[in-house]
Amino acid sequence: MNWNEYYTKINNSKPSNLLRRFSEMNVMRRTAIDLGCGSGKDTIFLLKNGYKVYAIDKEEIIKKYIDDKIDKEEKMRLEYIIKDFGEIEFPKVDLINANLSISFCNPNKIDNLLKNIKSSINIEGFFVGNFLGILDDWNMNKNMTFFTEQQIKETFKNFKIIYFNEIIENKKAVNGNLKYLHIYELIAYKSKN
Ligand SMILES: C[S@@+](CC[C@H](N)C(=O)[O-])C[C@H]1O[C@@H](n2cnc3c(N)ncnc32)[C@H](O)[C@@H]1O
Repeated sequence: MNWNEYYTKINNSKPSNLLRRFSEMNVMRRTAIDLGCGSGKDTIFLLKNGYKVYAIDKEEIIKKYIDDKIDKEEKMRLEYIIKDFGEIEFPKVDLINANLSISFCNPNKIDNLLKNIKSSINIEGFFVGNFLGILDDWNMNKNMTFFTEQQIKETFKNFKIIYFNEIIENKKAVNGNLKYLHIYELIAYKSKN
């Protein structure tokens, strides 16, 4: 399944569980990156919640899915960055949301990506995202990156961990096949000291 087929299948789905969990914490911020935004379920949620959003994805076609669902004023608060997220520097923001995207980074570029994520979050800002674990069914894919709990905690050691959760389950993937899913969810806060 290519990305466009994926977007068509998940078009109009609800925002990710983790982003909804974060929004229930009532720590509203102003600016956000939606990393690997895809067809934009989280980008749209952030726009509807008043954020200025940088929607980053390497697929130009994502614009078609998002533009259709937002009004003029929301469009003014949205900036697309159509690039490989492993190769660019990010704008400074209060929130980075990354749902099912970081693990698609090539292992050669993951250090750069993680470094950029951490440095582009403003003080008192948040990271909200997930990482596929080393037991995941797709772990033979050499173009993707899989994580241990220790690696994630080491990466975010200068952040305060607000929420950390491991999920291991057999789950129907978007392509309809049953998949052994291993994923870590993280909400982390960049405190002043
Ligand atoms: C599984 S989809 C998730 C989309 C969206 N975050 C969601 O939750 O619906 C992964 C997205 O990451 C994007 N992506 C994968 N590798 C990327 C890269 N190196 N640079 C930028 N975007 C990338 C894909 O194009 C795709 O839109």
